[in-house]
Amino acid sequence: MEKLMVEGGHPLRGRIHISGAKNSAVALIPAAIMADSVVSIDNLPKISDVETLASLLEDIGASVSHSGTCMTIDPRNIIPMPLPNGRVKKLRASYYMMGAMLGKFKKAAIGLPGGCNLGPRPIDQHIKGFEALGAKVTNEHGSIFLRADKLTGARIYLDVVSVGATINIMLAAVKAEGRTIIENAAKEPEIIDVATLLTSMGAKIKGVGTNVIRIDGVSELTGCSHSIIPDRIEAGTYIIAAAAMGEEVIIDNIIPAHLEALTAKLREMGVHIETGDDQMYIKSPSRLNSVDIKTLVYPGFATDLQQPATVLLTKANGTSMVTDTIYNARFKHIDELRRMGADVKVDGRAAVINGGTPLEGASVKASDLRAGAALVIAGLMAKGVTEITGVEHIDRGYEDLEEKLLALGANIWREQLSTDEIAQIKSS
Ligand code: EPU
Repeated sequence: MEKLMVEGGHPLRGRIHISGAKNSAVALIPAAIMADSVVSIDNLPKISDVETLASLLEDIGASVSHSGTCMTIDPRNIIPMPLPNGRVKKLRASYYMMGAMLGKFKKAAIGLPGGCNLGPRPIDQHIKGFEALGAKVTNEHGSIFLRADKLTGARIYLDVVSVGATINIMLAAVKAEGRTIIENAAKEPEIIDVATLLTSMGAKIKGVGTNVIRIDGVSELTGCSHSIIPDRIEAGTYIIAAAAMGEEVIIDNIIPAHLEALTAKLREMGVHIETGDDQMYIKSPSRLNSVDIKTLVYPGFATDLQQPATVLLTKANGTSMVTDTIYNARFKHIDELRRMGADVKVDGRAAVINGGTPLEGASVKASDLRAGAALVIAGLMAKGVTEITGVEHIDRGYEDLEEKLLALGANIWREQLSTDEIAQIKSS
């Protein structure tokens, strides 16, 4: 087991390249099994969630090969065997195997998904969609069993705007007979990316990126090549780091329109931002203004950037309030920030941050992926050295985090945990 060490106080200067989007990749890989021939996915991020999904595909008979950032998936020998817990529990997105296998084989048996612990994360809307398409869904001993004689298109209204449910229903519906309409669908760019892949495979999908998606089922999907969109959350994380510590930082390979809710807030805070076609220039101001932030579904402020933004606001002048309307318990990083000297308290689904209190290096624990990213930013801002455990969460979603930050002039490295530290983590 490892810990990340961050020596704070170094200004960031330089240029970094953003990888392909994790939350696209983890849906595109399951989607690829629906083809009858080989699918190549390029611009894949080198992260552990991608490796876990590739292994999951191999477990059911797919041939998977990698070349640089490209993964080639040959799904011809896949069989619809059950996917029990184990790997499935390692990531939330394993639930996309439900929609993909149901669409392809009309049956699936999959352990309940794991992923970041952000409070309750039900999948009732996914199940409502599968049932509307004609599947019988049962929960037996911690696994979800889906069976259908045939899938028939249906009109499905999502009670909650859900990225996962929108994608999962879309996966099953592309091979249903007739037309499916998903109303109150989510509009995230990653959903458009998955629809682009499915369309290249021969699916007929209209309206992605709006809240009504129309899918006309097809009987066959063929192989294709696809390149993943840039990761707006990875980009947002480095933009926030640059807003805190950046003398002059250029972030390359982004789609600025995906980041508008963030950049609008940062400009309100006084951060200097210039955008190009696929890059952004960021310079931290000498004085940051406090702001209030409320997370919303896309195109609102992303919940995945809420934790990093909270850290930045500890530097602002005055009091800020951050409300998470998507995950009201996504505040596990706050206790750790307090250890570093931040004046933050959680009040219901909001964090109230009294800014202007300098952070000091401390030993802290990343409880989930974005909490980990937030603590890395806190470490960059703090005086002294911050030790971050729970690195495995960060590795699920950030490619070459240390290398990218070192290139900007940060001082960050990994160390092995001592046996005493491992024992302490296991007992906590
Ligand atoms: N929800 C339900 N029922 C459902 C589905 C969702 O009540 O059947 C609720 C959730 O509990 C939550 C809200 O609806 O309160 C939105 O959840 P959504 O389904 O949109 O989330 P998700 O698909 O499980 C994806 C990302 C998350 C990101 C959220 C919100 C992936 C693999 N994960 O999760 O990303 O926070 O959308 O944008 O795409 C991350 O990258 O760190 C991460 C957690």
